Amino acid sequence: MSAGVDRVAVVTGASAGIGLATASELAGRFRVVLVCRDRDRGDAARRAILERVPRASLALHVADLSSLAATRVVADELASAYGSIDLLVNNAGAVFARRGLSEDGFERHFATNFLGHFALTLRLLAPLVRGDGARVVQLGSALHRIGRMPQGRLDFPLAYHLVPAYARSKLAILLATRALAERAARSPIGFCCFDPGLTRTQIESGAGPFQQWVGRWFHPWSRPAAEAGRDLVHVAVDTPFERVRGGYFVGRRRVRPARRAWQRDASEAFWRRAWGWLDAHERESATTWLGRPSSDAQDGRLDVDTTGDWAETMEGCGPRWSGSVR
Ligand SMILES: NC(=O)c1ccc[n+]([C@@H]2O[C@H](COP(=O)([O-])OP(=O)(O)OC[C@H]3O[C@@H](n4cnc5c(N)ncnc54)[C@H](OP(=O)(O)O)[C@@H]3O)[C@@H](O)[C@H]2O)c1
Repeated sequence: MSAGVDRVAVVTGASAGIGLATASELAGRFRVVLVCRDRDRGDAARRAILERVPRASLALHVADLSSLAATRVVADELASAYGSIDLLVNNAGAVFARRGLSEDGFERHFATNFLGHFALTLRLLAPLVRGDGARVVQLGSALHRIGRMPQGRLDFPLAYHLVPAYARSKLAILLATRALAERAARSPIGFCCFDPGLTRTQIESGAGPFQQWVGRWFHPWSRPAAEAGRDLVHVAVDTPFERVRGGYFVGRRRVRPARRAWQRDASEAFWRRAWGWLDAHERESATTWLGRPSSDAQDGRLDVDTTGDWAETMEGCGPRWSGSVR
């Protein structure tokens, strides 16, 4: 992907950790749009980046992405401020020691890590289509491997623990990424997942004292956020589009995610369920800018999740790109 300050990169959760490192790494190469929950922390991030890259072109937008209403407002702000978007990094994330529901009634991990970003992405499809081979990078985690997506309630009504709740939100991200990537197989947008690996950030601050204590034991094996940010930018910007599209990356390596996260039946079932959480605008945007999975894929012949490289195998079989770039 060619870079340049006429290119726009949007990074959510850019006030700390991997998001701040990524925004800082992109600064000078893109016009970087920081999406932060708190204006003061966003301003502090902007100052920190400008100290490192004085010529950086930065903008700040504020939204709590656990709220669908706030996410919709910021998405519409971004869509009208930037005619085209070349990179969207869906990075914001959190952990919660205690069970809680978002204002829309979703479990907080699910709302913050997955659902807000899902709505944001669908609302930004039009500027992404106008981007130059735009990429959407979703932050995954190895914990998706232990995530479960039951048919029934997703809010842990009986027994709650941070780890399965976080894992479910990351599994949701992967399932949605596969469904999006498949629908975008003939579009100019490439969807992928990036797992930074164990990284020293502030994410542990949402955990309980015991979990934080356990987390500190792993610090010798974790890496600095700056390193994770460099790897993310390598995948998002410096890796050829066809290799990025539909990929799951751990650091710079494209690997095979858990079968249950990348299986077509599972991702399609999740897509149908997630459709019910969207508003009319997001549905219309998805219908306008994304294709349909091909009938070949529907009969299971393209269920190639065991190869880990299903997008390449989809070549020539996906929906025909028919959207016009307005
Ligand atoms: N650290 C790891 O080892 C690791 C491993 C795998 C995946 N990840 C993923 O990497 C991503 C970044 O995490 P991190 O480790 O860099 O954590 P972090 O240092 O805690 O940064 C998280 C960022 O997300 C923002 N955020 C949290 N809740 C938000 C909300 N409701 N609305 C908007 N922004 C919100 C935070 O804003 P505030 O500054 O206002 O809190 C902060 O900017 C997450 O998706 C995480 O799941 C991390």
